Amino acid sequence: MKQSFLNTQQLPLIIEPNGNGNSKPELLLWLKNNKAELDKSFLKNGAILFRGFEIDTPKDFEDLAVQVDSRLEQSYYGTSPRNLVAGTKCVFTASELPGYYPIPQHCEMTYVKHPPVNIFFYCHVEPEYGGESPICNFRKVYAEMNPKIRNEFDTKGVLTVRNYSNPKKSSPFNLFELKKWNQIFNTEDKAEVEKQCREQEMDFEWMPGDNLRITHRTPATIKHPVSGETVWYNHLQVFHPHGADVEYSYIHTHQQRSKTFFWKHFLKVMVKLKSITTQPIDQSMNVLFRDGSAVPNSYVEHIQELIWKNLVILPWKKNDVIAVDNFSTSHGRLPYEGKREILVCWST
Ligand SMILES: [Fe+2]
Repeated sequence: MKQSFLNTQQLPLIIEPNGNGNSKPELLLWLKNNKAELDKSFLKNGAILFRGFEIDTPKDFEDLAVQVDSRLEQSYYGTSPRNLVAGTKCVFTASELPGYYPIPQHCEMTYVKHPPVNIFFYCHVEPEYGGESPICNFRKVYAEMNPKIRNEFDTKGVLTVRNYSNPKKSSPFNLFELKKWNQIFNTEDKAEVEKQCREQEMDFEWMPGDNLRITHRTPATIKHPVSGETVWYNHLQVFHPHGADVEYSYIHTHQQRSKTFFWKHFLKVMVKLKSITTQPIDQSMNVLFRDGSAVPNSYVEHIQELIWKNLVILPWKKNDVIAVDNFSTSHGRLPYEGKREILVCWST
């Protein structure tokens, strides 16, 4: 197989057929025979893109992911709406959020006790326009942070807040609310929700109107479990009310579409209104400092600047599979138009 990089960041390592042998069995056999070398590259580079292979179905994708990491998992306590794909045990739609909705860079489920170890994405249907899933080296983001801001996060840690409304409350799609609590826990039984929260070591509180608040107090970073490197590891740029606003400014510069221009300004107004009318702790999602104080908007802008400086944006090609080390490398989604089908699975 041919191994190469497209950029000086060496992210991701790209593996392609070397003139012959692009079938799934040939790739799986090669992976099996080169496992030790591959694991070393995966750790160093943070992501591996498999391109040009006959990975035609979601089941093929699952088989490839299992060959890279046998610990695939099914449970998901994140925020994106997702559906299990028929014919697979662990493959989900990456996100059912509308195409115009930006998903800023994040490592998956940074706030839970046992986040995914590796996360895999598969391009089943190529996006018509946009819809890339950029990745970013969060070791670099941490290393390049302003020392004063970095020290503040190191010292204070973060409080991640998610407020979910009750399943019976009927509301159309809400920009600021991604799921109701029954969709997170797959039940409307409050005792069962509480049981799952305790199992997952989530702090929970029932709010007026049967709404549910889930909070996590964690450090703002982690040490990579194998390499020991320090990694920016929280959802500030995704959950902070200012995050989407900043993200759309960068996206507009990158995509130069009138629709992005509209959403950029629309979001700015909506976020402003929301932050005037709602306390930080009551936002649908937020990341505050661990002591409950709000993180200044300028800090969100600083982190986003570093992320976009180090961002790797590769257009999807049909049957691409990318494996991402969730303890060093983030992922996200750029807005898209038309068809797009990206599937996901992960290991714990
Ligand atoms: Fe994600």
